[in-house]
Amino acid sequence: MTRTLVDNIGLLVTNDPSIDGTPLGLLPDAAFVVEGDLVTWVGPSQIAPRSEIANRVNAQGRCVIPGFVDSHAHLVFAGDRAAEFRARMQREGYDAGGINYTVELTRKASNGQLLQSARRLVAEANAAGTTTIECKSGYGLTVDDEARSLVVAKQVTDETTFLGAHVVPKEFRDSPDDYVDLVCGPMLNAALAHSKWIDVFCDKGAFTADQARQILKAGIAKGLLPRLHANQLEPGEGVQIGVELDAASVDHVSHISDADISALAKSNTVATLLPAAEFSTRSQYPDARRLFEAGVTVALASDCNPGSSYTTNMPFVIAIAVRDLRFSPEQALWSATKGGAMALRRTDVGHLSVGASADFSILSTPSYIHLAYRPGVPLIDEVWSHGNRIK
Ligand code: NIG
Ligand code: FE
Repeated sequence: MTRTLVDNIGLLVTNDPSIDGTPLGLLPDAAFVVEGDLVTWVGPSQIAPRSEIANRVNAQGRCVIPGFVDSHAHLVFAGDRAAEFRARMQREGYDAGGINYTVELTRKASNGQLLQSARRLVAEANAAGTTTIECKSGYGLTVDDEARSLVVAKQVTDETTFLGAHVVPKEFRDSPDDYVDLVCGPMLNAALAHSKWIDVFCDKGAFTADQARQILKAGIAKGLLPRLHANQLEPGEGVQIGVELDAASVDHVSHISDADISALAKSNTVATLLPAAEFSTRSQYPDARRLFEAGVTVALASDCNPGSSYTTNMPFVIAIAVRDLRFSPEQALWSATKGGAMALRRTDVGHLSVGASADFSILSTPSYIHLAYRPGVPLIDEVWSHGNRIK
């Protein structure tokens, strides 16, 4: 097995609190060893093992961080909504109405076109330091179009999510309950082989709390794991449903009550914030400080989709979180790595300690603070996934 030594790391972020007693587990002047696809040694550069090393990567004092874990993305769709974005920036607010436009284009696209577009987005994400990405369906909304969306998703990631309950498609406008039955029955059955997760957009203009509960329970009964879009556009029961069903994560959470926050704090459910969506729709940001004060586990993700957040760039998400949501740079980096891993219930990614997947980025800078301090500047020099250099 090839042994690679990464040494002369100015600052290594391990996310292993046993290193320094802080969540980021910071180690200055560090090195680590990769064997195959795993990290097998971490420690001071001076005492790094140097025998039988096939490959040496000299970090030359730069900062090394775990690969970003982007736990919320919609990557299977056709076309874009640039005109909607332009109109929204001038005057109109965001609602979920544009989703059906993307559904129309997605239904017309071939599997090859959808795969090419999803791969392009994953390549973009990889180049910006993302090494694990979740991918939802949700722009097909027929049995066949949801199934083929998930077949495409499965070709770009193992973290695939059935989101047949994104919105009620036009043809079911007058009979939404029939659509819910379709989602819970034939569509779910067709999605099962290609999905790990089930998600529902529980919000204004999408699905009610009762419908969300029914759909998530149907998925759970067939072995899928629940997560949901909750409280993005207005207050509601989304967070409570997530906690009640032990969802891995409730996502967006821009409109939440004290009761929602205390329920989350007592649960295993992560709150995943998607501030690039609020940025791109000029909407109210979630109150991250309140979540942190209550001890809620917080993740950051891109929400990449053609409507509300057309970005795959996690450093950009970190920059918004630090500037506008008042995360500390440490909280933001942790939430974009370990927090994302927890939102996917993964223990093998989001950290760099012995036994972890060798997924990491070498920044061009001596510190991770620069990710927010130098917004919009590409600072990711190298990206490694499963022990292989991909950038
Ligand atoms: O997460 N909230 C629902 N879905 C997406 C938006 C999808 C779209 O507008 O196309 C989101 O923001
Ligand atoms: Fe989303």
